[in-house]
This record gives sequence, structure tokens and C-alpha cells, in this order.
Amino acid sequence: MGITTVRSQQSEDAENIGRNTSANPTMGEVIAARYHRRDLLKGALAVTAISATMGPLALAAGRAQASAGSFGFAEVTAGVDETHHAPDGYDAQILIRWGDPVVAGAPAFDPRAQTAAAQAQQFGYNNDFVGYVPIDGSPEHGLLVVNHEYTNEELMFPGAAAKITKDNRFGYLTPEIAAIEMAAHGGSVLEIRKVGGNWQVMADSPLNRRLTASTPMTISGPVAGDDRLKTSADPTGTRVLGMVNNCAGGMTPWGTWLTAEENFHGYFLGELPEGHAEAAAYKRYGVAAGEYGWGKFDSRFDVSREPNEPNRFGWLVEIDPADPASTPIKRTALGRFKHEGAGVIVNKDGRLVVYSGDDERFDYVYKFVSSGTHDPAADKVTNGRLLDEGTLHVARYSGDGTLTWLPLVHGRGPLTEANGFRNQADVLINARLAGDWLGATKMDRPEDIDVNPKTGKVYLMLTNNDRRKPEQIDAANPRPENKFGHIIEMIPPDDDHTADTFNWEILVQCGDPSIADVGATFSAATSKDGWFGMPDNCAIDNQGRLWIATDGNNAKATGRADGVWAVETEGEMRGTSRHFFRVPVGAELCGPCFMPDDRSFAVAIQHPGEVDAEGRMGTFEAPATTWPDFAPGMPPRPSIVVLTRQDGGVIGS
Ligand code: FEO
Ligand code: CA
Ligand code: CA
Repeated sequence: MGITTVRSQQSEDAENIGRNTSANPTMGEVIAARYHRRDLLKGALAVTAISATMGPLALAAGRAQASAGSFGFAEVTAGVDETHHAPDGYDAQILIRWGDPVVAGAPAFDPRAQTAAAQAQQFGYNNDFVGYVPIDGSPEHGLLVVNHEYTNEELMFPGAAAKITKDNRFGYLTPEIAAIEMAAHGGSVLEIRKVGGNWQVMADSPLNRRLTASTPMTISGPVAGDDRLKTSADPTGTRVLGMVNNCAGGMTPWGTWLTAEENFHGYFLGELPEGHAEAAAYKRYGVAAGEYGWGKFDSRFDVSREPNEPNRFGWLVEIDPADPASTPIKRTALGRFKHEGAGVIVNKDGRLVVYSGDDERFDYVYKFVSSGTHDPAADKVTNGRLLDEGTLHVARYSGDGTLTWLPLVHGRGPLTEANGFRNQADVLINARLAGDWLGATKMDRPEDIDVNPKTGKVYLMLTNNDRRKPEQIDAANPRPENKFGHIIEMIPPDDDHTADTFNWEILVQCGDPSIADVGATFSAATSKDGWFGMPDNCAIDNQGRLWIATDGNNAKATGRADGVWAVETEGEMRGTSRHFFRVPVGAELCGPCFMPDDRSFAVAIQHPGEVDAEGRMGTFEAPATTWPDFAPGMPPRPSIVVLTRQDGGVIGS
């Protein structure tokens, strides 16, 4: 979810095409210049800090290193304006926008006369995770799956912003608007094809599908049928309507989509009945935050009327995109928390391993290891059962560079009835509380995690944590008031992802390397455009190269919009970052996804125009940008963009 606190954006040059010239200085040169010009005057302390960040040899070598590495594109210029910027020689095509038809017969988009019935057939709001499933192995014809994480009422509905007041947060809300919001959540499945060099959504394909906050789903795994999941609408505790706040995700080797329910706590309002057994757990999870008003019209989102409903959200959901009649399955063996995503790999012994972060300040990193093994010849239903039986672990990072995966197993260690865990269902529903008992490491907001299948290394995005106090730092979260985040590399021994002990290192501490106090650790070969803050999503391309997407850069924080950066992970260039793509003002970049030939790269532009150049919230009437249409009266529209090279070559090479 985008950070909705007021942010300041400064207007930048309106030039549409960003470009990096060969004269672009590296950070090594920038810092060297500053060192002579300014920091020398500030005394030995500042000099020492800069040397510790970059190293004098790195400073001297910065220019020489800039010519080597895995990436060959001309960087875009860092900055903020109303549109997107791709490197020279690349096309950025808008594939689909909020409101565009998805299923056959969907009406055309009319933002002034939107209905829930129309929205349920059209592309949802705030696209996040993107995954691709080839059809017949093709890199140019497949199914694109997309999460729709959340809604921005002030940007979506005419007149809404004026009706939101301090005293009435939901002044804009009617039963129909609540239903539109619910229909704009969830996900989309799109059959897409590259025709004449352009990607298209296949209109009216029978495979096209919308999933919403109302789509019937089943609950499987150890928690299915538990009393804590039973509601008046579902006395079995095995069926639920919809999914919410689907942020990042992952794809399984058998072609299904794992979509992660993140900030589910915000969809519930009301007070639990006095003395209710869920009170302590809901406090730990932030339920009921009341960020949405659906509970005014739908009792299941009001915990005073349906106190167990929140236990039915906060899961990883498995969906078969190739079968539009399939019922999505909430896989409870993977635990309940604010799942950012799912990094999936088949271990060398065939067991499935799924990594997932819990995106909140001071929360944890998890790893699920299946009991059974993946059978490439088995059908999806059979392989899907791997997600129902296994062991969830939580991570404890040590200062000696090791990390221990602590099993969340009922009856083991402190996970006993005396401590509030009657059974394994309790451990999984309250995974956070179980992690508390086990002494897991409190992280700086764990976002996306991806596994590099070429090297076996696992990349964890820690987006920021401005509330970490100096006395709370540890080896894995080494900066107090960590405004810019960092990336941790986790290394399984002998490529065994099921191992209980890994090694770990910090790949890079993010932020502006030219400011010593920031403590950024990008390599000196990184250009002035190449550094970033707030890593959020990531992708590994099919050659094993790491790409980072960000959420939270803006004019005030970092002097740049969010976007995509390509980061070297191996050899002398390790820690060198290059700016590949940038998004319009107010937006974050989500869901980076490479097609199997690395010649197409799909990205999700989320919440364009959410804040304007002065840091004010954008509204339907006065958005910060009207990207991508730039048409009179049309609001900004979250959209999927597909990047290709004009010469048809491999992205980034
Ligand atoms: Fe939905 Fe943690 O970003
Ligand atoms: Ca985020
Ligand atoms: Ca995210």
C-alpha cells in the first residue's frame, strides 16, 4: 500500500524522455567532488564517515567501474514529473488501465457513472503483483495475472474528496460506492498476446476473469474448519467471500498464482464484544483499523457483529488462472500475517519452499517448507496440496552472519496451550504471536522476497522503518530511523532452501550515498540517478539479474520518483545500481514481471496522482497527474505498462 502521509513533490523538467549521457558522473565522482569542495571543511568526522561508506579506493575507481557490469541500457534521469520515463531505445506501452473491460460484455469505462456491476467486469484499481503464465510455452502469448490491492476514493469518485471530513471519514460512502470499492479489489486474469510488436489484451477471451472482495473462495490446510473461522454466514469455517489488499505474490511451478493478502486489518471496523477471546490477537494485528467503511453496509466487515471474520483474511491465496471456473483457495499452512508476497522455489530434494514477509515495522520474515515433493507430471490439484502440509518457520538473524529458521509448530518450545496456542490452527492464525514467543528478529518492514534460481540466493526487501530507535538496532537492521530501507541477501547452505541455518549479508543500504549521515552503501560506480530509497518489490530476470521496484521516493524524500532500478549482485560491480524506469508523480512501481524470453517486461503503476507536487492529496477533480490518458475530465488510472526494446532485444542488456 502506498504511504498516504502528505509528501512533498517538486516539479521537475517536463521533458518526456529521460536519458543518461555518458558524462553522467558516478557517485564516486559526486562524492569525491563534494569531499574536496565541502566535506573537507566539515572536519575529519565527515570524511571518515564518507570513507567508511564508499572507501577511498572505490571513490577513485568509480569511473572505471561504470563501464562494466551486467546491464547495458542508458539510465533514465532521476526526477519527478507527470509521466513515465523509459530508457532510450525502449517502448513503454499501456496494456490495460483501471476501468478497461476485462470479461466479455464488460461496459466501457465511465468514471462519472461507475457502478459495481460494471467494475466487477472491468480492470480493478491499484494494480500490484503481476505474473505471467505462458500458453503453449510462448513468451508472446499467455495469461497475465494482476493483483488489485486497494482503492483511493478521493481519486476514483467525483466529489468524494469534498465529502471526507475529520468528523466523517466515510462521508462519501454509499452502499453502491462500497460495492464498487469491493469490486475494484482482488485480481484480474487477462489473456494477452503480442501482435505486430504490440501486446494486447484478448478482448472477450473466455479465460479473462475478475476476482473481487466478494468472490467465493475455500479455506484449506490446518486452519480450515477451526472454530475461530466460523461465522453466521459460514458455520463450517471453510468458505469465505473474497480477498482484500492483495499486494505482491508469486507463481508456482505448476502455473498457479499465489496472491498475498496484506493489510487486511483496515477493512474491518467496530468493536469486539466485551471480553472477546480475539481481543489480544486483534490488537497485535491492528484489527479493526476501520480504514474502509464497508462494515456500515455489510455485517461481515463489522467485528461487533461478525467477530471471527478477520481470521478469514491475511492468507496466501492460490488461484488457477487457466480455469476461470476454479475456486480460489486460502492456504492456511503458510500462516496468517500481512503477507507482502511469495518467493517460491522447488528445493533440490523436490520440496516446495515459499518465503514471505510480514510488512509492518518490526515484523518478521517467514519460510514455509512443504512435507511432500513437487511432481512435474502431477496435476495442479495434486501439487497444490503441497501448500496444505508442511512447516512454517520464522527468521532470527544473528550478528555472526547466520540466520536461524525457527519452526512454528504447536507444542514445540513455548508454543503451548499455557501460552495461548491450543493447537496448530492457533499457531498459524496467530503466526505473529508465535513469532514473538520464539524471539524472531524484528525487521524494518519486510516487503517482497524473491529467489534467484541461478545462484540460490534469496533477496529480501526491507522498505524502511523510521521508528527504529538507536537502542533498537541490530545486525540485520543496522540503521536507526531507517528512512530509506535496505536489501538483505540470504544464502542457503549447499543450495538447500529447507536448511534450518542460512548465511545472510546486506546487499545494499539504500538512500543518497553522497550524504554521509544516510549511510548508504551503493557501489561507487552507481550514478547520481542510480541510487534509490525504499525497495519494495523485486524481480529476478531469466538470466538471474536483480531488478528492484520502489515505493516512497518523492521530491522531498529522495528528489526522485519511484521506479525500477537494476542492481548488480555479483563480482566487483556488486551493489551498483542503475535507473531503468520511473513512474509519474504520486505513483509507486509494483509487480515487475519478465516474460520468459526477457524481451518483454511488465510493470504495474499504482496510485498515480495520489499526492501532488506540493505533497497534497490528489482528488478526482484536481489530481496531480492525469496519466496515462491526459484527457480532459479523465482521472489518473492505475495501469499495466509493458516495456520492450525497439530492436526486439533482451531487456536491460
Ligand atoms: Fe502493499 Fe507492503 O506493500
Ligand atoms: Ca509498499
Ligand atoms: Ca508492496
